Amino acid sequence: MTGYSTKQAKPQHFITTADFTADQLLEFVNRAIQFKVESKYKKDRTERPMTGKSMAVLFSKRSTRTRVATETAVAYLGGHAMFLGSQDIQLGVNESLLDTSRVISSMVDGIMARVGKHQEIELLAQESTVPVINALSDKYHPTQILADLMTIHEYIHHRQNGVSDQYTAHTQHPRETLKGLKVAWVGDANNILQEILVAFPKVGISVAAAAPPGYVCDDDVVAIAKADAEKSGATVSFTTKPEEAIKDADIIVTDTWVSMGQEDEKAKRLREFAGYQVTMDLAKRGGAKPDWAFMHCLPRKPEEVDDEVFYSDRSLVFPEAENRKWTILAVIDALVVKGGI
Ligand code: CP
Ligand code: NVA
Repeated sequence: MTGYSTKQAKPQHFITTADFTADQLLEFVNRAIQFKVESKYKKDRTERPMTGKSMAVLFSKRSTRTRVATETAVAYLGGHAMFLGSQDIQLGVNESLLDTSRVISSMVDGIMARVGKHQEIELLAQESTVPVINALSDKYHPTQILADLMTIHEYIHHRQNGVSDQYTAHTQHPRETLKGLKVAWVGDANNILQEILVAFPKVGISVAAAAPPGYVCDDDVVAIAKADAEKSGATVSFTTKPEEAIKDADIIVTDTWVSMGQEDEKAKRLREFAGYQVTMDLAKRGGAKPDWAFMHCLPRKPEEVDDEVFYSDRSLVFPEAENRKWTILAVIDALVVKGGI
């Protein structure tokens, strides 16, 4: 043995919300809300705990929200975010992911990575000596779903307490607002739905998902969702009829029908998702709750939701996008700055 590498304790990664307890997920949300209050409203932070630290932002696919959220979050904490796109580095052309992971993690304090196959983020985490945060894989999108929990909390808080010009969502714990809600998913059985399934039932939110015949979630994801639901008292159900999923929903959620990497299937998918566009009429026919709200991770294309819903007062999409910043800030602060949650 001639090498001189020393053994290091494994860092805590953020690969999917399935790896965290309900209390941990709600703690991330709570801390994200605190960040929003201190940064956006009080503007009173002086501590910059990432001074001298850097974070690699290793993205093999396009991104607006996740990239901007990450770079601004790291800057807010006083660190340096280094964007490494697929055109910039040796990965995939001259170097393997395994070697890249060992090399990059030896120089930075954390890695935010957007990958193709989920196995890539798992390999990255396995080889990395610093925390790896999943910025989207074909299976999961955990930072998105933390932002969604935060957005639902804010929406319910304001629904219960009335909307004022003051931000008051931090005065209530998300434990009190999220339990007992029903979310309807109308769309593809994709990474966003899968992350919803492993997060929402755990915190007591029921999920009813409608996807066209043949579009189904992974067996392990469904098993986790059902086991979580059993423990929390929530329900999980699947149908091919959007109206059925929407019945009594507090929130209707969708996403693109053509995820990044599926562009070749676009024509087929547009045909097979006929009848899945979220509209006021669909919500009415399905019997959503009178004050139902709409969510979408973005970017949005008009086929999955019409303008009337997307730009209506029911739509939470822009606060949801902003909350990507506060939740990513909470994850980086917990895992990269504080060493775990
Ligand atoms: N929702 C989301 O992840 O958006 P971006 O692809 O723009 O990061
Ligand atoms: N399902 C989409 C989400 C983008 C944020 C995709 O994977 O492209």
